[in-house]
Amino acid sequence: MAFDFEKILIEKHTIEKRVAELGKKISSDYADEELMAICILKGSILFFADLIRCLSIPVKIDFIKASSYGTRTSTSGKVKVDDLLSEKIKGRSVILVEDIVDSGFTIKRILDFFMEQGASDVRVCTLLDKPDRRVADVDPDYSGFTIPDEFVVGYGMDFDQRYRNLPYIAVLKETEK
Ligand code: PRP
Ligand code: MN
Ligand code: MG
Repeated sequence: MAFDFEKILIEKHTIEKRVAELGKKISSDYADEELMAICILKGSILFFADLIRCLSIPVKIDFIKASSYGTRTSTSGKVKVDDLLSEKIKGRSVILVEDIVDSGFTIKRILDFFMEQGASDVRVCTLLDKPDRRVADVDPDYSGFTIPDEFVVGYGMDFDQRYRNLPYIAVLKETEK
């Protein structure tokens, strides 16, 4: 069975180049702090793995799981969060690594969670930003690409759990939804 999508939106080499730039910028911004990078499962796995390899500073990593889309192409608005953290984050500088900020509900919920846990500084690094769909009041500190209002898959992102393994980012076909 072949993958079926409308078009490739961002090619593999374009992602690689931009991720390297983000890694460089973050490394310079956090040169004097011990950074904790949080992977927001599942969507950010590929971006996270590539981004941390582009950091030239010491970094600790941890995981949190959040989901709200299920089998839909728009958010249910109910974000289910599972705390998988293995270390206390009180007083720490944290960077939340997301694949996409769409309505913003997911990242806002996690930002609030980390602030409540007493992190000293929490920033958001997203590969994709889709500002046209924003509902929650949140603005990523680091963003790879601003994209139009289209449902994208690949490079970690899914539709009904499929397409995550594509090494590029593609637009889902209308008929697939
Ligand atoms: C997707 C995506 C982001 C979030 C963005 O996660 O990976 O985490 O939605 O949408 P929002 O800004 O409207 O909240 P999803 O709920 O599909 O879970 P997944 O990461 O396991 O695929
Ligand atoms: Mn996600
Ligand atoms: Mg998803």
